[in-house]
Parts: sequence; structure tokens; C-alpha cells
Amino acid sequence: MSNPAQATSRGIKIAPSLLAADFLRLGEQIAAVESAGADRLHLDVMDGRFVPNISLGVPVVAAVRRATALPLEVHLMIEQPEDYLDAFAAAGADCLIVHQENSPHLHRTVQAIRGLGKKAGVALNPATTDLLIRDILDQLDLVLIMTVNPGFGGQRFVEAMLPKIQRLRELLLQEQLGCELEVDGGIDRKTAPRAVAAGASVLVAGTSIFSDPSGPAAGLRRLAQSCSPAPP
Ligand code: DX5
Ligand code: ZN
Repeated sequence: MSNPAQATSRGIKIAPSLLAADFLRLGEQIAAVESAGADRLHLDVMDGRFVPNISLGVPVVAAVRRATALPLEVHLMIEQPEDYLDAFAAAGADCLIVHQENSPHLHRTVQAIRGLGKKAGVALNPATTDLLIRDILDQLDLVLIMTVNPGFGGQRFVEAMLPKIQRLRELLLQEQLGCELEVDGGIDRKTAPRAVAAGASVLVAGTSIFSDPSGPAAGLRRLAQSCSPAPP
């Protein structure tokens, strides 16, 4: 392990999803997960159209940017995400994640993200096959496999996503691509090790971190421990 602050000893990265944080104490909660070893923060943007919920937008991303040095990944669950790339990049996002399902010109959108100097990620809903992004995999920094239907925190992990994670991991190995494989939704101490065993390299977790009865720092550490080999 090169970075002692890293959340797990296997190099698996953890991205707390702020959707489950207490927004009145956001700064404090970000500091807690940062000191517990969070690798990056995950910010869920929802428009009430692409997904049936409304969450946060550009001003919140900008405020979080001022509160932390951690990388910020912005998960855009909105229609026409290409219209908002500039705004979220200017607000301080380091990685912009768009959905395959609402991006008919996905290659162009990915190029636009890279043109802004940001990392490009593509998310796949549970019903979307990985075949649909194979032809642009070499252009991506990250693939986000949704392990719930997007829109809400606190949902149950969809087991049927494990083979999809495996298939993508095999493909990335075969093609020697360094693209990260991230999972999002229902990730807790039980499901995290299974997603990691299937090939996930980054875990997004909201409820299991921020609703831990001992607080978010403890929640993050427990999640990290669930994916670390037991000490000899
Ligand atoms: C769901 C969001 C997730 C959400 C995960 O649409 O993309 O990032 O915050 O929440 P949990 O970890 O509670 O399933
Ligand atoms: Zn998300």
C-alpha cells in the first residue's frame, strides 16, 4: 500500500456518497470521512426527470470543493448531461460520470469531458448491458456499475450485477486497460467484499457510512475492514 491514508489495504478505493450525509453538518461529516481515509467523494446530482428524485446541484459541488482536498466525482443522473459539463467542471469536479442510457452521443460527451481536463466516467443502470460501452472503453477513466436502480439511497444491492462486474473486469484485464470499475448502490459490509471479489476497484457507499450508529468515520473504517484481508 503506497498511501497510508488509503481506505483499504488492498488498494480498493472508497467513495462516500454525500447523498446520505447530514446536509446541515456537511463540512463536519466530510472532515470525518476524510480523516478516516476516504479516497474521494461521490456527489449525486438528480433532476427529477432522468430519475424520480431531486438532490443537489452546482452550488453544493462548489461548496464541497472549498471544504476538502479530496477528489470529487459527480454522478450526473440528469437529462442532457452534456449541457451541464462546463458548470460542474467549473464548480470543481475532478471526474464527471454520465449515464449511457441518456447519452445518444456518448463518444462525443466523453470527449467533451476529457476536453475539459476531467476524468470521464460512464454509468450503467442494472438493465443496461456492458456490451453498449465496449467500443469506448479505452476512452474511459471509470465505469460505474449501478448495483441499484438510480434515484435513491438505502436500496438493496441487486445481486444479478455480480456477473456484469466480472465480465467487465475480465475485459479490462484482457485489453490491459487501466479504467476503474466502480459499484454504486447497496454497498455495505456484506455486499462490498462480494463486489470486490467480482472485480470492483472502487466502492461508492452512502447509507452504510453515514448511517453507522457510531458515525461516518467508524462506518467508513468498518466498510474498509470488510474488504481487507484479515491480519495473520
Ligand atoms: C443512487 C446513488 C447512490 C446512492 C447510494 O442513485 O447513485 O450514489 O447515494 O446510496 P446507498 O449507499 O445508500 O445505496
Ligand atoms: Zn451515485
